[in-house]
Amino acid sequence: MRSWERTVVIFVAVASLAGGAARAGTAQPAGPVAPAAAGDLASEVTKLKGEIEGLKGIVPDQSHVMKDIAYHFSNLWFAGQARNWPLAGFYLSETRSHLRWAVRIRPVRRTTSGEIDLRGILEGMDRSLLTGVQKTIEARDLAAFSKAYRDTLSGCYACHQASEKPYLRLRVPDAPEGRMIEFSPAGSGG
Ligand code: HEC
Repeated sequence: MRSWERTVVIFVAVASLAGGAARAGTAQPAGPVAPAAAGDLASEVTKLKGEIEGLKGIVPDQSHVMKDIAYHFSNLWFAGQARNWPLAGFYLSETRSHLRWAVRIRPVRRTTSGEIDLRGILEGMDRSLLTGVQKTIEARDLAAFSKAYRDTLSGCYACHQASEKPYLRLRVPDAPEGRMIEFSPAGSGG
């Protein structure tokens, strides 16, 4: 058997084994099978890499998601002050899920003192401060809510400091970001 004949035989055998006997009709005695398959795989990987890069370009950046968090968290304050506890519960859970999203977008930040793991910071904050706010909402306790809210703002800011963005200071908002939201509870005449 000449070498190209052997190549065809091997190709047909491999194609049949793979259940792709139909493709054997396109067999060319051009070269061994493995490098061709590897070439296909490599070009597929290159294509996928390009698509992933493209998708990364559409994902919002961390700062964009933080703006959403500021929206939810500022509305949370006004929902609480209006004693609209179901609305407060909604804005707290939006704050939490968007914080998780923000951290998924960029879990680790490089700072001058090394890498900081935002996931760990958020985990601790969710377990302590954010769970604390949730309890005050469940207890419908405005004084406790207001204090837990302020404590959480300090927690938010602690992460900004850790991320070397100390200029991103936060304060209790003087107006809600959601202008279309009715903060007074249903049935209160507001
Ligand atoms: C785990 C860390 C972390 C936590 C917790 C965190 N932030 Fe941030 N925040 C960041 C980082 C990092 C940036 C800067 C993002 C960037 O530069 O791309 C930021 C940016 C911001 C910005 C500026 C966005 C802009 O473009 O104007 C606001 C507002 C903000 N955060 C609000 C909050 C609030 C409110 C909370 C708490 C409910 C909070 N953040 C909790 C890490 C955090």
